[in-house]
Amino acid sequence: MHRVVVTRDLPGPALDQLRELFDVDVWPRPEPPPRDELLRRVAEADALVSMVTEQVDAELLDAAPRLRMVANVAVGYDNIDVDACTQRGVAVANTPGVLTETTAELTLALILATSRRLLEAADAVRAGEWPDWHPTWMCGRDLRGSTLGVIGFGAVGRQVAALGEAIGMRVIHHDVDQGMALDDLLASADVVTLHVPLLPETTGLIGSRELSLMKQNAILVNAARGAVIDTHALIAALKDGTIRGAGLDVTPVEPLPPDHPLLGLPNCLVLPHIGSATIETRSKMASLAVEAVLDDLRGLPLKHPVNPTARVGA
Ligand code: DGY
Repeated sequence: MHRVVVTRDLPGPALDQLRELFDVDVWPRPEPPPRDELLRRVAEADALVSMVTEQVDAELLDAAPRLRMVANVAVGYDNIDVDACTQRGVAVANTPGVLTETTAELTLALILATSRRLLEAADAVRAGEWPDWHPTWMCGRDLRGSTLGVIGFGAVGRQVAALGEAIGMRVIHHDVDQGMALDDLLASADVVTLHVPLLPETTGLIGSRELSLMKQNAILVNAARGAVIDTHALIAALKDGTIRGAGLDVTPVEPLPPDHPLLGLPNCLVLPHIGSATIETRSKMASLAVEAVLDDLRGLPLKHPVNPTARVGA
């Protein structure tokens, strides 16, 4: 019987489907399995259902000689060394399509919350620092009529653009092969929002030079991956007023330690990577990942292969 290792309990009926056919080993705790535990568990695995928190690299693949497929419960797969998988004939699948709207909605929430200073305002209420209604207290900026700059114009970026238009924003965008030049977008946008995959060429895409090109009243939103922004540069820009604020659903390290400098900045809202976190969407992501395992272990083609060449010649 095939053995499937799953690195977290999954919502919905997905795991039961797997259990009907395979020997399924689910890591039972809410936090990721420690590395040595994961390496031990994959030793006999034919398939691995991983989260963005697991590094699937050469070391793990070497520890899993029977492994033939990895299904990542995410659309992003920067936690996976795809080349190393391909070299070993290990197929990789992800979960595109099902989290587009949910992630775009969270991005809009971040844009609204950052622009209207919701974190600062709510903190003031809790701290007893509400001075009663005052004409200049806690003023943010209007979004209607302002310019939304979308960097990365894939499925999520386009959906964020549609939501921005729906609330009266003018949308501009930049991507590798379309839209305006990055520097022009940075100089024109009142809200800059990031939706690029994490690749060598997008790591540190927004650094001090880019931040200095942004309008002083602009806000920066990131629902992609933390490493797309140079964190030190962002902290400096938020401290010295180079930009007005930032809303981050992703951070350079996750979980972000409570004493991290980003959390001491009143103009920075940090969320714990919850872009796709609705029951509906997480259930769909789990189902897609499990469907990939079922298909692959039954010899059927994957619907969302990341490395279609993994099996060529195998
Ligand atoms: C993804 O799918 O890549 C997200 O970051 C996980 O929600």
